[in-house]
Amino acid sequence: MAVPTDILWERDLHTAAKHTLLRRYQSAWFPIMARRFREDGITFFDGFAGPGKYTNAQESSPLIAMEQALRSDVAGLRTPIRLVFIEADRRRAEHLDNLLNARHQQSIRPPDLVVGVHHGKCGDLYEQAIAEVGGWSGPVFANLDGWGVDTDYKIVQRVAQQQSSEVLVTFQDQFFIRFADGDQEAGERVFGHSEWRQVDQLATAAKTPFLLDLYRQGLHTAGFPHVLTFEMIDEGGHSLHLFFGTTSDVAVRKFKDGLWEVDGVSGQRFRDPRDPDQMSFDILRPDFTPLANGIVELLGGRDYSMAQLCKHALLETIYKETHVKPVVDSLLEQRRVELAHTGRSYEDRVLRLAEQSLF
Ligand SMILES: C[S@@+](CC[C@H](N)C(=O)[O-])C[C@H]1O[C@@H](n2cnc3c(N)ncnc32)[C@H](O)[C@@H]1O
Repeated sequence: MAVPTDILWERDLHTAAKHTLLRRYQSAWFPIMARRFREDGITFFDGFAGPGKYTNAQESSPLIAMEQALRSDVAGLRTPIRLVFIEADRRRAEHLDNLLNARHQQSIRPPDLVVGVHHGKCGDLYEQAIAEVGGWSGPVFANLDGWGVDTDYKIVQRVAQQQSSEVLVTFQDQFFIRFADGDQEAGERVFGHSEWRQVDQLATAAKTPFLLDLYRQGLHTAGFPHVLTFEMIDEGGHSLHLFFGTTSDVAVRKFKDGLWEVDGVSGQRFRDPRDPDQMSFDILRPDFTPLANGIVELLGGRDYSMAQLCKHALLETIYKETHVKPVVDSLLEQRRVELAHTGRSYEDRVLRLAEQSLF
């Protein structure tokens, strides 16, 4: 998508899918976190907030957050909730501020809800904008949804230092591939170092995996032990990567639940960037081949229990833990794998590669 210059622009399919995911995830995040952090409070930070709506849609990340914060089961907890928005384009920042005030008048907002709209660059303002509402005293969910090339690494690092915080980053690999020998300053800011420039020396097929892996490592190093990444591909073949960094495997589970609940995300294909075969599939008609191949590959190294395979699926792939059993059942049926040890629990049931039969 060309970068829009008007205040509002048309929402594309990627963005619609992102909104669906965000709403589903936030509908779990707000009540869970507001219950857990009643004293410290919670912060939704939108570093690239946009104008609040589209020429063809009334939905946007700021309005999704506002809606969730106002839910009676969230607002009723009286937890301090801060919504912090930053937008670099003055017209869009004003549009968002006016829209939030028109849709949710200040006078009827709960007293524990603070909303701040700031005009300026995310990298310049985030520290102060979050500090001035007391946001650094509790967990921060940072939605870093720029044009895919503009999230400074220092922001990710700062959020990662904060207990129970999370980031959702939009990442556009093509920009870095195109400009590895040109606009290097952006790459330095996003990756936090110059190693990414090696992409220029790599064969075409190796460029994207290299950048995605490097960015993923960066999120780990920043302090997120779990990094879920997936690629969305629209009908025109345009692709966009999302990285979700968290310290909690419960959060990974919730995020995946959102991803795999299908309605509203149709028209998109999804790909696990770590799948060596780079297979993409419609989430409405999932293909479990990459998960099956991944399990066979793991078992080629050593035996694994069902519990370990579920953990692998959850934390290292686009698939859910519940996808493992049917895939393993089918591998057992095909005699590609066999039970090395059986038992009632997933910990007890251990799988290994099947002996190749000669006949
Ligand atoms: C992809 S749009 C955001 C869409 C929004 N999150 C939503 O879901 O509706 C990116 C926005 O970031 C703004 N932007 C670009 N660079 C920025 C920066 N350095 N700091 C803050 N905002 C920026 C753009 O003006 C644009 O409105």
